[in-house]
Amino acid sequence: MSAGILGMGKFIPEHVVTNTDLEKVMDTSDEWIRTRTGIEERRIADDDTDTSDMAFAAAEQAIQNAGLTPADIDLILVATVTPDHPFPSVACLLQDRLGARTIPAMDISAACSGFMYGMVTAKQFIDTDTFRHVLVVGVEKLSKITDWEDRGTAVLFGDAAAAAVLGHVSDGKGILSFELGADGSGSKYLYQDDKFIKMNGREVFKFAVRQMGESAVHVVEKAGLKKEDIDYLIPHQANIRIMEASRERLEIPEEKMIKTIQKYGNTSASSIPLALLDAVESGQITDGDLIVMVGFGGGLTWGALTLRWGK
Ligand SMILES: CC(C)(COP(=O)(O)OP(=O)(O)OC[C@H]1O[C@@H](n2cnc3c(N)ncnc32)[C@H](O)[C@@H]1OP(=O)(O)O)[C@@H](O)C(=O)NCCC(=O)NCCS
Repeated sequence: MSAGILGMGKFIPEHVVTNTDLEKVMDTSDEWIRTRTGIEERRIADDDTDTSDMAFAAAEQAIQNAGLTPADIDLILVATVTPDHPFPSVACLLQDRLGARTIPAMDISAACSGFMYGMVTAKQFIDTDTFRHVLVVGVEKLSKITDWEDRGTAVLFGDAAAAAVLGHVSDGKGILSFELGADGSGSKYLYQDDKFIKMNGREVFKFAVRQMGESAVHVVEKAGLKKEDIDYLIPHQANIRIMEASRERLEIPEEKMIKTIQKYGNTSASSIPLALLDAVESGQITDGDLIVMVGFGGGLTWGALTLRWGK
């Protein structure tokens, strides 16, 4: 038995903000955003919807799709850098909202790599039979820490949540290998000051291209697989040019890379699970497919894993 995904859920805010909408409020253009990032539109949550509300909607759906109830969950991990409050954690708010038992609940702060950190943490508890079912949520309301006067960052981000319930799956399925890492010396390139996201785009770009490619190759090797075995690559949806670089490094064709950046922008911790769920719902990813997921983010952090889809 190994640890894999039993069910997933998502929350996508209704309000769509297109590049053309942004042209009206800042000095930018649809053409610049599309060609430099691949983003066409993003979703922005309304004022009444906070991070825990989005997490709750996604989590409820994931638990239901796993065929479970909140009482079956043994641990809650929420990957986010935009919690409702510094404390209590979103995970604690979520535990209460779900009506789960008094199980452990905590947030993970690893920015856009957060969901990878969450999946790998869940796996440790499942593999050791400490916990049976772990709820992992990737959720961000980045719009509340976005400086709408800074065109260098404002055009990139979006709000969303995606959740997965992890538990035992049959042999050969689930998480086959993983890699996590961090390099705090790069903290100056991507961070939040008193209020807003600050970023050195070029430095983050260089780091991301190198790290995404390397980590993706490492996890394939660690699983004893070859590049040709990969059915789908799900890179963190930050910039299409970074995503393409990791695809080229893995030498896999265009149609094998899952791409949702055009419609959601960079949703940080929710980007990878959201792309995965989109591909599962559309029927693209099916039982037995071998998936490589790879993310990077503020910290700087990174995380990658190989997952054989199915229970
Ligand atoms: C942010 C990013 C898209 C910028 O693309 P780039 O090709 O590096 O662009 P540059 O920063 O070199 O800027 C080029 C020009 O475009 C301008 N520009 C920046 N943002 C712009 C915008 N939204 N609209 C129009 N022009 C913009 C710059 O001011 C600069 O103008 P200048 O040459 O007159 O100084 C790119 O660096 C990137 O994606 N980096 C990684 C960011 C990331 O993934 N962050 C999340 C990590 S989880």
